[in-house]
Amino acid sequence: MTDTPTILVFDSGLGGLTVLREVVAARPDAHFVYVADDAFFPYGHHGENEIIARVVPLMGEFIGTHDPDLIVIACNTASTLVLSHLRAAYSVPFVGTVPAIKPACAQSRTRRVSVLGTKGTVKREYTKALIRDFAQGCEVTLVGSPELASLAEAELSGAPVSDEAILAELAPCFVGDAEDGGARTDTVVLACTHYPLLLDRLTRLAPWPVDWIDPAPAIARRVSDLLGPPSCDIAQSGAEMIFTSNRVHGLSTVLTPFFGGRAVA
Ligand code: DGL
Repeated sequence: MTDTPTILVFDSGLGGLTVLREVVAARPDAHFVYVADDAFFPYGHHGENEIIARVVPLMGEFIGTHDPDLIVIACNTASTLVLSHLRAAYSVPFVGTVPAIKPACAQSRTRRVSVLGTKGTVKREYTKALIRDFAQGCEVTLVGSPELASLAEAELSGAPVSDEAILAELAPCFVGDAEDGGARTDTVVLACTHYPLLLDRLTRLAPWPVDWIDPAPAIARRVSDLLGPPSCDIAQSGAEMIFTSNRVHGLSTVLTPFFGGRAVA
């Protein structure tokens, strides 16, 4: 590995930025390439075979052009499906993003946990297996949201989204007796990397307070462990952002904080 590792962070759109910002904070020594496959967004609306056929060869192209030391699939909809295919096809280490069901169920006091993800993620066998293996006796409610990822993209791109639109996607997560704090959902897994972009709104619109579980800090720790300690003095390296649609992004002031203040090429 070179002194400055290159970390490629991949999502269907802007949601993976919520993972990127944690990885950037954990690895200031790295060079970052963020890839948004916006030409194929939203992944949640595509079938399983379509996503595998899209992501596996696309990743091969980006490995060829950027030679990353590590790739983060910052997308639950893709990770729950393509990680095994990617690992079989390429020797680069991959870190995925999958629903944080185990920690959520471990910490829930009311034993009622909801998993808010795309329609694709909540349907996956991978997600069902996580529940079988790690629910630890909790009642787990799967909520497949058709529009929340698109609403988060719109909001970040400067097109305000109404409270009603967000609440319609969120409401099914809240299960049990609203009047009884011991008999209702107390933990919601954010099983789509777009949703932390809306965390302030989700918190404000929630019918009652819950803990929101975002796996991004754990992913950043895993990336750092795999790369090992920085081998050089930390001089902040650059960052690149690629949209597969080739659109020219005019979002730099909004995006810069996710890159830890780096100039984004
Ligand atoms: N950000 C993606 C995820 O974590 C999903 C958004 C989409 O539907 O493309 O699942």
